[in-house]
Amino acid sequence: MAARERVIDMPNNLAPIPELYVSHDSAQKLKHEAASLPSWDMTPRQICDLELLMNGGFNPLKGFLSEDDYNSVVDSMRLADGTLWPIPITLDVSEEFAAGIEPGQDIALRDQEGVILATLSVTDRWTPDKSREAEKVFGADDLAHPAVNYLHNVAGPVYLGGAITGIQPPVHYDFRGRRDTPNELRALFRKLGWRRIVAFQTRNPLHRAHQELTFRAAKEAQANLLIHPVVGMTKPGDVDHFTRVRCYEAVLDKYPQSTTTMSLLNLAMRMAGPREAVWHGIIRRNHGCTHFIVGRDHAGPGKNSAGQDFYGPYDAQDLFRQYEEEIGLEMVDFKHMVYVQERAQYEPADEIEDGVTVLNISGTELRRRLAEGLEIPEWFSFPEVVKELRRTRPPRSRQGFTVFFTGLSGSGKSTIANALMVKLMEMGGRPVTLLDGDVVRKHLSSELGFSKEHRDINIRRIGYVASEITKNGGIAICAPIAPYTSTRRAVREMIEDYGAFCEVHVATPLEECERRDRKGLYKLAREGKIKEFTGISDPYEEPASPELRVDTTGVDVDNCAHQVILKLEQLGLIAG
Ligand code: PPS
Repeated sequence: MAARERVIDMPNNLAPIPELYVSHDSAQKLKHEAASLPSWDMTPRQICDLELLMNGGFNPLKGFLSEDDYNSVVDSMRLADGTLWPIPITLDVSEEFAAGIEPGQDIALRDQEGVILATLSVTDRWTPDKSREAEKVFGADDLAHPAVNYLHNVAGPVYLGGAITGIQPPVHYDFRGRRDTPNELRALFRKLGWRRIVAFQTRNPLHRAHQELTFRAAKEAQANLLIHPVVGMTKPGDVDHFTRVRCYEAVLDKYPQSTTTMSLLNLAMRMAGPREAVWHGIIRRNHGCTHFIVGRDHAGPGKNSAGQDFYGPYDAQDLFRQYEEEIGLEMVDFKHMVYVQERAQYEPADEIEDGVTVLNISGTELRRRLAEGLEIPEWFSFPEVVKELRRTRPPRSRQGFTVFFTGLSGSGKSTIANALMVKLMEMGGRPVTLLDGDVVRKHLSSELGFSKEHRDINIRRIGYVASEITKNGGIAICAPIAPYTSTRRAVREMIEDYGAFCEVHVATPLEECERRDRKGLYKLAREGKIKEFTGISDPYEEPASPELRVDTTGVDVDNCAHQVILKLEQLGLIAG
């Protein structure tokens, strides 16, 4: 009887929510059977989506959207049955895989190590109109939007829809104690006696403004506070979640004791602004919260390709307000918080009278200060947070980088690269690795020839090794011919995820390279004895805007290497 009363007493937001997992015994059996099904190796984003489908975070969804649901969500933010759902949760696959699958069939969904996490009973298979999806869901078919770029350049062309049967959650090795399913959070709130809970969504480190904002929100809603950061996929270029979680843990101590908790959400964000805010609200409702903070430019993707914001700063609040009742939790809306020097405190920007001194450091300014090792004032952030950020983002003069020489055979790339390496080693501080064209071909690419395909593979290998060196704080000097613009661009993108990329075009003219003919190869190429020879019988696409261009005609090597050093100083990569 007592147990029954407790169930009746339990507020709606804290009662258990349906999950898509089968029992332990059934899971063992199903896993065995699923091994013989056609299987799809999921992408990191699909794994995030699957986890929230299975644990009830995406309740009421029962699987990946069917074609009818998809069309309805794209057009009107509702499932075909009218339920509010703003973001298409779809399983995108390749054409080859889709061709072997018929509706009515079950498939196994595996993680990146091949572990079966779920089965999907396929009901629908269709080729979506991605431009329409981009326009309707993200507001523009513009590749500057990270989710639109993902849609066109990463996601597969065919979607599969159907119900999910959950076998096991994806495994996480990091911060296990900080990850909670919706039911685990609901149970925690029940245990703590929390009835009103306000959630704060974030993909950034928390600074004083956020701490003040969340503290005020909790007071305003007379609720306990859940810091609920996203650790799945956020905006490219964001601070990695390992660093952020260490920062959040430091800030947790700043709240009054027992009022606040933190849990990590393995969500793959879409940066869809207003629609995303509604989605975030539904997800937090599923996690047992009663209130949700929506601030300025919630889940904003930044600027479009014309340099304008994709969404207005308060569009997300407006849309949330419109659907508040259906979302099922209350919005706590906040304006931008700024620091008022005279009163030494943070206040909402729209409540401040004229004549006071308002201080603010933007995200861009913070990144600049970190990159240049400049002061970050205490009114802006907590020393513990700044310390963590500095550990991850040391000043540029202590970060890894890559110098990428490109030019014709015999142009002087290797000679300058060697001189540069010695000069950098003389300065000390960071390990230096030279990936010279000839050396790479001997040790990494000995099976490759000089067709476009083989040259591309060769350069991508060099790019991969250089990106690892850069990531780990070293200096990589590369000196291949690298004749194709698109491949050089791909390598640049690979490396810029981790540090600076300095392209040096060694622009010694063909006539001079041929006149020198240090290896006797030009002669052989002219005689037709070497095929596909760069500059003679194969193309060299000149870089349009390298960081530096040098011509070795009549200039000594030392001078050329010195020009590179000056450029690196100018870029802040070595201390002046
Ligand atoms: S690429 O295009 O970047 O993959 O070329 P790379 O690996 O830098 O080439 C290294 C050296 O290969 C010699 N070699 C040729 N170069 C161009 N075309 C053809 N067909 C060819 N065959 C052999 C040449 O000596 C390159 O060395 P460098 O140091 O550039 O003179």
